[in-house]
Amino acid sequence: MAKDGAEDIGSVGTAASTIAESVEEFLSIPKCMLFTSRIPHIVLNDSSVMPMMAFGTGTYWQKPHPEGPFTRSMVEFFKIVIMQGYRHFDCADFYGTEEEVGVAIQESGIPREDFYITTKVRDGMDDVEAALDRSLKRLGTHYVDLFLIYSPSFARTPQDLQHAWKEMEKLVSTKKTRSIGVSNYQREHIEPVLEVATLKPAVNQIEFHPYARCLDYAYWLEDNNIQVQGFFGLAPLNLSSGGPLDRVLPCIAHIYDVNENAVLIQWMLSYGVTSISTSRDPVRIEQYLKVTEFKLDEGLVSLITVVGNANNICT
Ligand SMILES: NC(=O)c1ccc[n+]([C@@H]2O[C@H](COP(=O)([O-])OP(=O)(O)OC[C@H]3O[C@@H](n4cnc5c(N)ncnc54)[C@H](OP(=O)(O)O)[C@@H]3O)[C@@H](O)[C@H]2O)c1
Repeated sequence: MAKDGAEDIGSVGTAASTIAESVEEFLSIPKCMLFTSRIPHIVLNDSSVMPMMAFGTGTYWQKPHPEGPFTRSMVEFFKIVIMQGYRHFDCADFYGTEEEVGVAIQESGIPREDFYITTKVRDGMDDVEAALDRSLKRLGTHYVDLFLIYSPSFARTPQDLQHAWKEMEKLVSTKKTRSIGVSNYQREHIEPVLEVATLKPAVNQIEFHPYARCLDYAYWLEDNNIQVQGFFGLAPLNLSSGGPLDRVLPCIAHIYDVNENAVLIQWMLSYGVTSISTSRDPVRIEQYLKVTEFKLDEGLVSLITVVGNANNICT
């Protein structure tokens, strides 16, 4: 009996030490590895896979001049963002942040393949391959995951849009980008592109929040198998604060014990739209990532939509 008891104690002891080992192992895993799968992914029309939440390196982070000096503090901040769980960075040739994103990724020690890098061409529309080459050099990588035309404003005619798209399509076979897409394109810009496209745009990056009245267009894009990626998602809290959602969002946030920013990001994801947000505050970034821990009730998604549509304020 004593022997049996000893055996029992032994097996409990073994179990305890196994648990202790796994806890120790768990704690020794870099925090960033633990959060790798925190953010949901979506499959694009070219079968590639994109994390549904991106960290934006424009707006607040954009340098006054794209050739501005290398900023070490930006690299350190982006490394924190990686530690917190983001693997998708949104850049553009004119943000001036590609070099810092590339260094942050390298210094994170996490393999390049675990990241998803989006960049956009605005300044090099006359030769998109040369523009992509410059971005790759600044990012210190051989490929980006998604390369977007920043805006249709370069085009004077529908033929200009079509010609640019055919040039973008050539980039996929060079393997310098996995996916191609557009940004700020309205339906009248996408339609001529679709007339000539062999590869459809995988993504259209547009303003998307409850005050933007963009749902009909988003449904049209979805019907055409083009993924919507939304920016200015937090506009009701900053650019367009003072609208009718000011009274609704705090109540919903209270129900889920999250910040209002997480409610707005979750609202976007509920429509299958991927989100790009940014912040200069790690606490805010943790608030954004709470999105992965709850799902908004469908009725509340509709409530936000209806109240948002009632707003007269434009961003
Ligand atoms: N393709 C395009 O034309 C285009 C255009 C615009 C943006 N973008 C991309 O989208 C990214 C995100 O754009 P965005 O800056 O408009 O992002 P956003 O995610 O809508 O807003 C971010 C701002 O919201 C503030 N915020 C967060 N929570 C808040 C709260 N509870 N109350 C008040 N303010 C709050 C943050 O302030 P703190 O910094 O103080 O936390 C942050 O500066 C850009 O960086 C860029 O990569 C693309």
